[in-house]
Amino acid sequence: MIVTQSFFQAPICVFAATLLHLVAAEFDCEEKKIVSRSCTTELACIYEENHQGREGYSRYCRCKTVISDLPLPDNTLTFNLFRTVCSQQTSQLQELWINDAELEYIDSDILFRYPKLKYLNLAGNNIFFNFSEKAWALTHLDVSNNGLNVILPDHLKNFKSLKMVNVSFNRLDQINDCFDQLQELEEIYLNNNQLTSISNDEFGHLVKLKNLQELYLNSNELSSIDKQHFIQLPNLKILKIGNNLITELGSQYIFKSLEELHCENNQIKNIDKNAMNKLENLTVLNISNNNMEKLEADTFSSANKLQVVDIHSNMLTVVDPNNFQNFKNVSILNFHNNSLTEKVISCDNVDNLKSVNVLYLSFNKISEIYDCTFAKLENLTKLSLLANQLEKIPPSTFNALTKLQELNLAENQITDIPEGTFNNLKELKSLNMSNNNLTAFDLDKLNNNRKLKNFDIKHNQLSDLDLALLKSNLPALQTVDFDVSLIKCDKYANVFEYFEKKNVEIASCRNRIECCVSSSVNVTLIGIIAAAIIVCLLAVIGLFAIICKCCKPNSSKYSVHMVPVPQSP
Ligand SMILES: *[C@@H]1O[C@H](CO)[C@@H](O)[C@H](O)[C@H]1NC(C)=O
Ligand SMILES: *[C@@H]1O[C@H](CO)[C@@H](O)[C@H](O)[C@H]1NC(C)=O
Ligand SMILES: *[C@@H]1O[C@H](CO)[C@@H](O)[C@H](O)[C@H]1NC(C)=O
Ligand SMILES: *[C@@H]1O[C@H](CO)[C@@H](O)[C@H](O)[C@H]1NC(C)=O
Ligand SMILES: *[C@@H]1O[C@H](CO)[C@@H](O)[C@H](O)[C@H]1NC(C)=O
Ligand SMILES: *[C@@H]1O[C@H](CO)[C@@H](O)[C@H](O)[C@H]1NC(C)=O
Ligand SMILES: *[C@@H]1O[C@H](CO)[C@@H](O)[C@H](O)[C@H]1NC(C)=O
Ligand SMILES: *[C@@H]1O[C@H](CO)[C@@H](O)[C@H](O)[C@H]1NC(C)=O
Ligand SMILES: *[C@@H]1O[C@H](CO)[C@@H](O)[C@H](O)[C@H]1NC(C)=O
Repeated sequence: MIVTQSFFQAPICVFAATLLHLVAAEFDCEEKKIVSRSCTTELACIYEENHQGREGYSRYCRCKTVISDLPLPDNTLTFNLFRTVCSQQTSQLQELWINDAELEYIDSDILFRYPKLKYLNLAGNNIFFNFSEKAWALTHLDVSNNGLNVILPDHLKNFKSLKMVNVSFNRLDQINDCFDQLQELEEIYLNNNQLTSISNDEFGHLVKLKNLQELYLNSNELSSIDKQHFIQLPNLKILKIGNNLITELGSQYIFKSLEELHCENNQIKNIDKNAMNKLENLTVLNISNNNMEKLEADTFSSANKLQVVDIHSNMLTVVDPNNFQNFKNVSILNFHNNSLTEKVISCDNVDNLKSVNVLYLSFNKISEIYDCTFAKLENLTKLSLLANQLEKIPPSTFNALTKLQELNLAENQITDIPEGTFNNLKELKSLNMSNNNLTAFDLDKLNNNRKLKNFDIKHNQLSDLDLALLKSNLPALQTVDFDVSLIKCDKYANVFEYFEKKNVEIASCRNRIECCVSSSVNVTLIGIIAAAIIVCLLAVIGLFAIICKCCKPNSSKYSVHMVPVPQSP
């Protein structure tokens, strides 16, 4: 055996050297010295996301070999070949990546010789894997994007230590109890397959997965999930079922331990509130792009840890204000693109939205806001009222919003901005008032907003705009947009100069010449040009006249010459 191996070693080495390349990136790794004593292949620092602490990433090092994009002989990887690419002493190998290598067959011996192998990535190949003979110590297996249309329970049953399995981006239409015996599983990626239903026969044994924390079923063709057999996953924290054909959010999707529920892009009309209100630990709910018409009272009655609520692009006309009681910790609230009216945030329930940082009310039917509407939302940094039906804004509407950075009021019918409206918005960086009915806007109204970077007041009914104030009031300005027809170019020549010097971008035109040519008010310049052209024309005509005059005597002289001298008879 040894003889055969070393006999083949040389030619394979040459072959390997020409055909294969080992990606051995250098990493800056504190523990490098310690680990590299036994680690002869690449040393990689892995940042592992810690779901408990979201922010906190812990770093550790492990031996890793990456063989990707390889033209493997016969699309197979055998032990001899593997040895030559990787080092001899790979008994320490912990992580092996053979992704996108057109691999069809892998000699399972290879893997079996690396007892420390924990992470195997075979994504993007053509492997019909069958590693059923041996027990594995693997904790992470990625066989995504392999064109798999079936996984048999046998295939996985020996991966007893598996914590994560990625079978996403295949063609699976059923699951066949294949996770049955994998009691250590914490994460299952089944997204982007062709699953149509999950019922007892196909998914029954998921019930037993006591350690499962994350389940990805998004981008399948699921229309129903059978309630009884799916219900007990006592530790499930993240469930993604977006991009399916689900019509009701009933109790089958509800796990008491859930922290994130992503069900966007379905056809959900109803939330079973008796199910939803059990989710005491829910922090993220995404139910955007569905068919919800109302949010009934107490839908979230025990979900008081909610931080992100995204209900954009539904058909909501009513949101029962009782729901806001559970939004006390919400920082992102997205109601964009519904049919909500001013009643959505009434002065009685805004008290509960004090934590909101980002509030999207754009593309709704709000026709009025009141002094009190935002009066308690002192942590707001971003507010969008884009595309509503507002006509006026009470002067103290934004007084409490001292942290606001972005305010979008575009596409309403606002006719007037009262004095002092923006006075307290000291942090404001972006203000969009385009497409309204403003007939006047004194830029002095912005003299407290010295951090303003982007200002848009295009498409209004203004008759004048004093650009000089843009220069003096807004030292941080980066982009500005206005109707160029308003601008008296000669009057503001020095403002344009200033813009050019400070690289302030005028969105509708690039520089003074362009802005002023497209400006219809700039009659004087056009007048001067026209006058100049006329003067030139006149000069040319005059010149011709002179030339002609000069010619005439000449020709008469000629004719004199030409007059035949009468011949004497
Ligand atoms: C998987 O491998 C085992 C043992 O090598 C064999 O008995 C079984 O038939 C194989 N299964 C498939 C579906 O190829
Ligand atoms: C699972 O596989 C898909 C497709 O290859 C990949 O995009 C995704 O990052 C993988 N997920 C994990 C957690 O490894
Ligand atoms: C909610 O989270 C807390 C703290 O993480 C945990 O102790 C509790 O068991 C969780 N509740 C449920 C129903 O899982
Ligand atoms: C919710 O899903 C939509 C897709 O419909 C996505 O664009 C959005 O970013 C998601 N929101 C959150 C808060 O994750
Ligand atoms: C809001 O979150 C904080 C920590 O982020 C927590 O201490 C508090 O209990 C939460 N409030 C509610 C009502 O759950
Ligand atoms: C609003 O939602 C509908 C679907 O509900 C979608 O077709 C449309 O593009 C969305 N419009 C905007 C401006 O987001
Ligand atoms: C506002 O934000 C500050 C700092 O982020 C935070 O300490 C405070 O609790 C927030 N206020 C409310 C009402 O959430
Ligand atoms: C302001 O809103 C309009 C939509 O009405 C949009 O076209 C424009 O790009 C926005 N301006 C800025 C500076 O974002
Ligand atoms: C705003 O202008 C539009 C079109 O110019 C007009 O139809 C609308 O009635 C105006 N609204 C108000 C409140 O003036």
